[in-house]
Amino acid sequence: MAKGKLHNTERVPDRAILVGVQIAAEPGLLPLEDSLDELALLADTAGLEVATQTYQRINTPNPKTLIGKGKVHEIKALAEELDAQVVLFDDELQPRHQRELEEEFGDKRRVIDRTALILDIFAQHASTHEGALQVELAQYEYRLPRLTRAWTHLARQGGGGGGRSGVGGVGLRGPGETQLESDRREIGKRIARLRSDLEKVRAHRGRYRAQRKRSRIPIIALVGYTNAGKSTLLNALTQAEVYVADKLFATLDPTTRKVRLPGGREALFTDTVGFIQKLPHTLVRAFQATLEEVKEADLLLHVLDVTHPNVHEHAEAVMQTLDEIDARHVPMLTVLNKIDRLDDPESAQAALAEFDGAVAVSALTGQGLDDLLAAVSNKLYETLTPIEVTLPYEQGALIALFHEQGQVDLVEHTRAGVKLRGRLPGRLLARYSEFAKSGRKVAATATSSKAE
Ligand code: GTP
Repeated sequence: MAKGKLHNTERVPDRAILVGVQIAAEPGLLPLEDSLDELALLADTAGLEVATQTYQRINTPNPKTLIGKGKVHEIKALAEELDAQVVLFDDELQPRHQRELEEEFGDKRRVIDRTALILDIFAQHASTHEGALQVELAQYEYRLPRLTRAWTHLARQGGGGGGRSGVGGVGLRGPGETQLESDRREIGKRIARLRSDLEKVRAHRGRYRAQRKRSRIPIIALVGYTNAGKSTLLNALTQAEVYVADKLFATLDPTTRKVRLPGGREALFTDTVGFIQKLPHTLVRAFQATLEEVKEADLLLHVLDVTHPNVHEHAEAVMQTLDEIDARHVPMLTVLNKIDRLDDPESAQAALAEFDGAVAVSALTGQGLDDLLAAVSNKLYETLTPIEVTLPYEQGALIALFHEQGQVDLVEHTRAGVKLRGRLPGRLLARYSEFAKSGRKVAATATSSKAE
């Protein structure tokens, strides 16, 4: 089965009506209108044309259609008037709602939700094998329950359906019950196959990561809301050719580049998938392996678009996702990006005051990047353990390693060897403990096991 595409590249793009719903007891992170504006950007990225947007605030969801009957009729009339083929909901629809709404809006229209849309964008942007497998798995997992319901629905109708293509399960409607049952079995098999393929790819990635860990270069992961400028920043720091676009989720697969920090130490910077509010859980699960990079990093750079009116909500959404993937323990440095777009330099100061320990930069003009690298260096330094050692001259490798991986505050050439005072990553302490200043050995070993 082909990966669903919402857009048809050969024809004029499908027109969509965007629908926001706010249930009184469940206020979202973003105000309803802002969330709809974000959905419009997602729709544009997926290749849909936005015909109009509408919303409803409700106290209790309608069990059949989520939105009220009157609203359903209003949207149907709008869709006819504007010749819209797609009705796009800003929240994940339950399969039951989707089915009922499709029935209401008629055969010519597809009902999809934010989750299906994000999955479709991810499917378009996955460029590595692992990325493609992850998205495909998430798509099938999303479709399976919907297919079951569609099957019931079609069985009741006695079969039929157009075999339309598209995300959201509707494209999987076949000519009848038997076909749908076999589709369901096929999907089940495909899911099992994808899981096992992913296992293999992950085992390979795990070995690669272990190798990188052994190389003992600190790993710094860029995280942030979609479109915050992570790829642009990675490019600016490393001159890497990472794809940058004013589209949501342009980057899907992690790119890693080496950067030399002030003082000569090296670090690996890695770009990650953008976060967004209401990020589908299926997707977070599917991307768990990619997100491991974030969990195991030595430092996170949280990139924020400081010019965005919802910057605080974006920061909150990122924190929530970090919680979800158990990455809140990793030290973090906040980067306020796009300061070149601020008319008033004082607003940068105000933002800096709001985000503790943040650094203001423009990835586009390069402003503040030196300060950022210095801050990264300092932050990594904070994660190091103080130590003083006297290394005999024949221990050249250990002397070099201290300079490469540690922070040297003092060098003294004594008769016994080179005295080095400074800081080292916890994982290296054991190798230096026999040369540590007396009294240090025990402390160093104790800190080492804590830091590992
Ligand atoms: P995802 O792939 O969606 O996660 O996005 P991203 O965070 O990697 O953002 P990306 O680097 O693709 O940048 C998004 C848009 O912001 C692009 O149009 C960039 O040119 C623009 N941009 C990035 N940094 C800056 C900046 O410092 N100043 C300005 N004015 N624009 C920027």
